[in-house]
Amino acid sequence: MSPVAIAEENMNGPKNMDHKIPVGPITAGRSRKKSLATQLSKEGHGCPMGFVRPDLTSRCTWKANETKPDMKKGTQGPHSIDKSKDRMKIMPDVLYNIGNTPLVRINKISKTAGLKCELLAKCEFFNAGGSVKDRIALRMVEDAEKSGMLKAGDTIIEPTSGNTGIGLALAAAVKGYRCIIVLPEKMSNEKVATLRALGAEIVRTPTSASWDSPESHISVAQRLLAEIPNSIILDQYRNPGNPLAHYDTTAEEILEQCDGKVDMVIMGAGTGGTISGIGRKIKEKCPDCIVVGVDPLGSILAEPENLNRTEVSYYDVEGTGYDFIPTVLDRTVVDKWIKSNDKDSFIMARRLIREEGLLCGGSSGATMACAVQASQDLKPGQKCVALLADGVRNYMTKFLDDQWLADRDIIELKDEMTNWWAEEKVSSLELSAPLSILPSVAVEHAIDIMVKEGYDQLPVITESGKIVGVATMGSLKAKMLKGKVNATDPVEAASYNTFKKLNLDTTLSKLNRILDTEHFALVVHNQRLYTNQKDIQEREVIVGIVTDIDLLQYISRHEAGNGSDGSGSTSPRNSQQGSEKSN
Ligand SMILES: Cc1ncc(COP(=O)(O)O)c(C=O)c1O
Repeated sequence: MSPVAIAEENMNGPKNMDHKIPVGPITAGRSRKKSLATQLSKEGHGCPMGFVRPDLTSRCTWKANETKPDMKKGTQGPHSIDKSKDRMKIMPDVLYNIGNTPLVRINKISKTAGLKCELLAKCEFFNAGGSVKDRIALRMVEDAEKSGMLKAGDTIIEPTSGNTGIGLALAAAVKGYRCIIVLPEKMSNEKVATLRALGAEIVRTPTSASWDSPESHISVAQRLLAEIPNSIILDQYRNPGNPLAHYDTTAEEILEQCDGKVDMVIMGAGTGGTISGIGRKIKEKCPDCIVVGVDPLGSILAEPENLNRTEVSYYDVEGTGYDFIPTVLDRTVVDKWIKSNDKDSFIMARRLIREEGLLCGGSSGATMACAVQASQDLKPGQKCVALLADGVRNYMTKFLDDQWLADRDIIELKDEMTNWWAEEKVSSLELSAPLSILPSVAVEHAIDIMVKEGYDQLPVITESGKIVGVATMGSLKAKMLKGKVNATDPVEAASYNTFKKLNLDTTLSKLNRILDTEHFALVVHNQRLYTNQKDIQEREVIVGIVTDIDLLQYISRHEAGNGSDGSGSTSPRNSQQGSEKSN
């Protein structure tokens, strides 16, 4: 079938009814009749039309070289073939500036790494909306228009980590559709600002929500679909147009730019559309080329499975990695996976900017750091193409900011302050042991406990000692007053689960910087625990909560000359009042 033809068949797999659910997009339907998904899905997640999983078994039967394109008809199997638009002197609209991105030689980084091959960057941030996702957004919109699923006046809804949203919002702005983007809290404010400027409406969801929970961006988008008439989720996780956009254009451009001969291509994976589409075309036209996938530590897309084993549960690089395997990701075309980490990724992204002048984003750094590693054995004359997925515009207040990197221990800043206390450690502070509560305690009882004990924040800890969040006056107030939780709900639902952690060796200058933006930080200690005679587990134990008042009290007592008089540790109500700074 076509390349990527995700058409119909292959009913194997654990999800036995998958084949009866149409391939993406997901439509609410123009009539009031129950959609197919309503009849099929067992999981509801509060979506009246049922929950359509983003990891349904792929129905694609693509095999390299099997279905020949029909250039006259402009089809390949069940799919239409798209071509990169020619560079025009005057473009009819900005959507013509999607695709045809430049391939740029990496000079200094390649030399420093001692590479023999030619290292090249496919610069997707030059697309009109600033990322590789503009390609799939336009393709999915135009496919839906051609099939009649998307009509003037309709609403496009999409769950996305941001860049697909920007691509869709851009197409919607130019073509005149209403656009609603559902995106996790983690995604940068810069992406949100760009989306708003393009006229998109935005719904935020908790980053910690797993993909299949009712609060996930995927479930929330599907609930909106059921509520809004004439709306459509183009569904990048299952839409054949996602990998096809790259099969038809990105891969063809790379092949053309390399005169048909490329030895290694390397890129990150989110939905997997980019790597599946490029990988499939490359396997057909350049079968010896090695396809390398980059997956952040903390994600589970890489194979073999043991590569994904890690203690890391959160990463700051945006746009890649998932906690499920999206339908459009075809891992059979990936020869090798490399796991990336935040530190190497952001350092390389800064080098790409500083040394090569490429204004790329953090995941581009991840890809390039892995490319330098993967291409070590390539020979002179061979070519390695690394795909730089988005630009720095999305991250101006993130990895472009030295302070942001220092807060994450990615770089060390020379502290300009010469305060006597700057190099002292958190262990010098007199912290009271914190009181904690179980996740199941009701919100009303948590408030009673805070009042009785005089605490404004309580770590939420499971019976087995895992820290799952912090309930603060701010978090309870925010959720209760907005009607998001009731007094009888478990406190876990009203706690913050992104907060700063530090340890007893953290310097007071770093603590001071953290407290510039956070009301509190948890001081944790790693404890080793034998679970039987030979197995040992590492567990985080909270040794205290630190706030501005702890730091101020320490400094003022020492400056007054009565430093460690042991007279008073921090009172439980040790900071607070005022609005929450974290989250
Ligand atoms: C920022 C960003 N967006 C999108 C992608 C590609 O995502 P997908 O796998 O969904 O095609 C990448 C891959 O590196 C990325 O870094």
